[in-house]
Amino acid sequence: MEQLVTSDFKLGIIAGGQLGKMLVLAASNWDVKTFILDTDDHCPASTCCTGFMKGNQLDYDTVIRFGSMVDMITFEIENVNIEALQKLKAEGKKIFPDTDTLAIIQDKGLQKEFYKNNNIPSPQFFLFKNKAEIIEAAETGAIPFPFVQKLRKGGYDGKGVAIIRRQNDLKNLLDGASLIEKLVEIHTEISVIVARNRNGETKCFPVAEMEFNEANMVEKLICPSSLDEKILHQANEIAMQLIASFNLCGLLAVEMFVDKNKEVWVNEIAPRPHNSGHHTIESVITSQYEQLLRAIFNFPLGSTLMKMPSVMINLLGEPDYEGPVKYEGLTDCMSIEGVKIHLYGKKITKPYRKMGHVTVLATSIEEAKKKADIVKQKLKVKSW
Ligand SMILES: Nc1ncnc2c1ncn2[C@@H]1O[C@H](COP(=O)(O)OP(=O)(O)OP(=O)(O)O)[C@@H](O)[C@H]1O
Ligand SMILES: [Mg+2]
Repeated sequence: MEQLVTSDFKLGIIAGGQLGKMLVLAASNWDVKTFILDTDDHCPASTCCTGFMKGNQLDYDTVIRFGSMVDMITFEIENVNIEALQKLKAEGKKIFPDTDTLAIIQDKGLQKEFYKNNNIPSPQFFLFKNKAEIIEAAETGAIPFPFVQKLRKGGYDGKGVAIIRRQNDLKNLLDGASLIEKLVEIHTEISVIVARNRNGETKCFPVAEMEFNEANMVEKLICPSSLDEKILHQANEIAMQLIASFNLCGLLAVEMFVDKNKEVWVNEIAPRPHNSGHHTIESVITSQYEQLLRAIFNFPLGSTLMKMPSVMINLLGEPDYEGPVKYEGLTDCMSIEGVKIHLYGKKITKPYRKMGHVTVLATSIEEAKKKADIVKQKLKVKSW
């Protein structure tokens, strides 16, 4: 392994959004060459990777060509052509996390079946082929209101999820193969990112609490969480059980609900760096990006001890602005102690587009929250 990171070793990363960019930056601390595949040649990672291939990660031939250029493949999104990865794997290409795991996680229906088969607590569910089947089941009382519909494939940032509280909401159903899930009475949404290397060494990052905005995107991420020790322990145990059940090498982000009775349920998982781990760059001894590299190169995992409490806020495009990006309030925010601003380098802003994030470090969560609220008021993503 040591040679791998001090030579011409080429790590291929499928997609070059902000997660890809931060992964590239972590790899640049070692002597690893990073190659990105993305449809957009101005994607965030394009400015700092060693090599770039323009192409669609859902296209079979494109993924095969990209795979043949690199020594190892990882990904920063789930939506990748699985058949191409399977072919590359059969030819001996190293792919982490494994293609079979990605195939399960890509499909929320298979994800839920995996939880059921492995005794992972997750809300009760039913699978349906299309909207018409769901309407029939709801009208005959086979699925009781309220419930949540999730498209099996392709959803992100809350797109692909519909909350159906009553008969009248049935018009909001999405069409396509879906799962229907019990609506949980959520007390807190949390996330645990867990890493596992090829030797099976496993480590969790501290539990983070997630607060969402009206567009269903993470608005604030609070770490460490103030939930009871017992709940935090249980969340860690679930994350460790999950990553071991998949025999996964890499990172697994586990989104969970803590319900009103303080029970912990798995919502969904992602086998890659995750928005809920951005803060680890500054607030934890090892960032999620470095941890992923350690895991896939089979180095010992790094310490996940927190350096300081942190609150992370996403910098989203303001609702009424679309066009070339202009940031307001940077100077004011940089003058606040502990404020670390990340701009992803996207040229065009759109309503709610993730343009950057800010991690606020402070000696207490209360202090970090106060500063984060000031940053939220002052720092705005608009257009010219
Ligand atoms: N069973 C449920 N009960 C109550 N609320 C739910 C349930 N499932 C999902 N939600 C709400 O909808 C949000 C989005 O759901 P989910 O995380 O499955 O979708 P997503 O689009 O893949 O999310 P993202 O890409 O933002 O992580 C959750 O964070 C939660 O607030
Ligand atoms: Mg989610």
